[in-house]
Amino acid sequence: MSDRIHVVIIGGTSGIGRHVAESFAARGCDVVITGRTERRAKGVADEIGGHTRGLGLDLTVQEQIPAALSDVHKVDRLVLTALERDHNTVREYRPADAMRMLTMKLIGYTTVIHALAPRMSDGSSAVLLGGLAMHRPYPGSTTVTTANGGISALVRTLVTELAPIRFNALHPSMVADTPYWRDKPHGWEAVKARTPTKRLVTMQDCTEAIAFLLENRSINGVNLSIDGGELLI
Ligand SMILES: NC(=O)c1ccc[n+]([C@@H]2O[C@H](COP(=O)([O-])OP(=O)(O)OC[C@H]3O[C@@H](n4cnc5c(N)ncnc54)[C@H](OP(=O)(O)O)[C@@H]3O)[C@@H](O)[C@H]2O)c1
Repeated sequence: MSDRIHVVIIGGTSGIGRHVAESFAARGCDVVITGRTERRAKGVADEIGGHTRGLGLDLTVQEQIPAALSDVHKVDRLVLTALERDHNTVREYRPADAMRMLTMKLIGYTTVIHALAPRMSDGSSAVLLGGLAMHRPYPGSTTVTTANGGISALVRTLVTELAPIRFNALHPSMVADTPYWRDKPHGWEAVKARTPTKRLVTMQDCTEAIAFLLENRSINGVNLSIDGGELLI
């Protein structure tokens, strides 16, 4: 096994996860990225280059998660960012869709940590992605708001159960240059106008915040909002 830093990014084939993977790969780390299919994960890993490899892992199929990660032997830095979006409201509730997303995000993330914890050391750390919808719901965010609240609580129990491994969460506002948002300016113009910085959060902002949460050895159990001060308005 190499003495490089070993990074695992669950949901590293797209968006924030891929951006984080590119950053760690450029620093010479050993990087494992996952997506739902091995084919796509391997293809993206090849595009990223360096010491990056891709694994297939579907967080909605929890019983397969440990086997999917059996080839990961050392974890210094873990980022859990995978998401399947669910647009849902209480009045027109679709429980099956809500259950799929909540299961993948909360039970799925926890199952990954359960599988990888024995391969983490005292100096290891992890960051879980939630989102600002935890504090500021928007129409249709019922499941997302619930999931993000769950992530906020989950880091607290992870810190206490798995000490001294550190766990933190990042809660971004809308990240306008992610694949989901970059072609939808009608969706983010209002957010930009009300944000005190008059700019939107970027993937670069998220990657820098994730690196800080992963690497500062006294940051533990923190739920960090990254929103340009949007919550103050
Ligand atoms: N984008 C934003 O504006 C924003 C704002 C606030 C919070 N966040 C949070 O930031 C995180 C990343 O968001 P993003 O927009 O960057 O993500 P994204 O581009 O939509 O990428 C989602 C990732 O999750 C993987 N994935 C999807 N379903 C999966 C499943 N069932 N099992 C395993 N992996 C699965 C995808 O892999 P494959 O497609 O290869 O399967 C992909 O790598 C999310 O947790 C989200 O809640 C994002």
